Amino acid sequence: MNTRETLKVNAQGHLEIGGIDTVTLVEKFGTPLYVLDEKYIRDMCAVYRDTIEREYDGNGIVLYASKALSCLAIYKIAKSEKIGVDVVSGGELYTALKAGFPAEKIYFHGNNKLASEIEYAIDNKIGTIVVDARAEMDLIDKFCAEKGVMQSILLRINPGVEAHTHHYIQTAKTDSKFGFSVADGTAKSIVEYALTKKNIVLKGFHCHIGSQIFEKQSFKLAVDKMMAFAVEVRDQLGFEATVLNLGGGYGIWYTDEDAKLTCSDYAIYLKTIIDELKRKANEYKIPNPYLVIEPGRSIVGEAGITLYTVGTIKDIPGIKKYVAVDGGMFDNPRYALYQAKYTAVLANRALEAPTETVSVAGKCCESGDIVCADVALPAAKTGDILAVLSTGAYNYSMASNYNRNLIPPMVLVKDGQANYIVKPQTFEDLVRNDVIPDYLK
Ligand code: LLP
Repeated sequence: MNTRETLKVNAQGHLEIGGIDTVTLVEKFGTPLYVLDEKYIRDMCAVYRDTIEREYDGNGIVLYASKALSCLAIYKIAKSEKIGVDVVSGGELYTALKAGFPAEKIYFHGNNKLASEIEYAIDNKIGTIVVDARAEMDLIDKFCAEKGVMQSILLRINPGVEAHTHHYIQTAKTDSKFGFSVADGTAKSIVEYALTKKNIVLKGFHCHIGSQIFEKQSFKLAVDKMMAFAVEVRDQLGFEATVLNLGGGYGIWYTDEDAKLTCSDYAIYLKTIIDELKRKANEYKIPNPYLVIEPGRSIVGEAGITLYTVGTIKDIPGIKKYVAVDGGMFDNPRYALYQAKYTAVLANRALEAPTETVSVAGKCCESGDIVCADVALPAAKTGDILAVLSTGAYNYSMASNYNRNLIPPMVLVKDGQANYIVKPQTFEDLVRNDVIPDYLK
């Protein structure tokens, strides 16, 4: 199923994850259910961490991009794997701190951080803020002056490389809500501006060129552009960047259109980036910068599956068969948003060969509420358990209570044991913050 043996089919013909039969999981926890394999996550953290150690003398850090999946347990895992995290909101920051994550290993991103979020980050001594606006820099400087502290920052740079799954484009495009553009000169002028700030320590630069990228060349190009920029500002402004954060974006397997990468494939990816970085540093005769990477999807994506129960089945002869499940766009909006592709398996009949192509529909009142379109399955029956694979990233983190459906709980499996890491919501949770004004009572 995937290359790290997270998923297997057992002797009963049931899908297993992390050594547990999914049918057993459903008996115990019900559906819909997010399931996450801890070993997979730890293996991925380790492969990035150890590659930096081995290939770059440990001169860098892996940050888990927690936007992919944020909950207390995931920060505990990241902490015990001795990696850092990036957060993109006060809520993610709160969750990380609540889990006891070391503040100095937290990087804070966002194109429009709120003043309250910035102050919260500074009060909690967050290691690095990745600045994405001049006004944000002013706020950081002001808060730091008031509180008598200094704040390390990186600047988010738009290097003019945009990558998509299997290709990249080089653009001089400045039309992005993220980053100071190299092409139009704003990147250089923000460096100049940062250097005037008394309470800010500018460490270096950040870029993130896209997500679900398989093409190594895109990352090499980003390295080249960022190193060229670093040298330009050194020569023209006398500022030497010591940190280079290259963001995340490594692709994962969703369907057989995607590569199935092993741990060592990801190590090779990172080594390619490191080699290019070393080559450029050597060429420019500058010290190797401290390397930061921010993988999210590749750490948790393939670690996760979602289990559903098949409900109604609608066959429109000659047109399409819809297999409806007890979830939908409220637990996974990625088809609705991006026409994302997935692989689905009948978890209780996993040895049976597919006989038809169907669309898996959700239960929301919306035609676009599809979990995955055109998937090959054996003829599904009401009551079957359907597993959608590679749902660990950007599913729970983008879930909603649309139609007042309950966001599914999540269990973490390890060594044949499963534990809740997100409890089931209740209907009472849905009305917890609702208020009836007096005149409506
Ligand atoms: N760093 C920065 C600054 C980012 O913006 C992102 C993702 C990452 C790291 C992590 O990238 P990853 O390794 O996960 O590809 N909701 C979309 C994905 C949005 C990604 C946004 N930024 C989806 O479901 O595909």
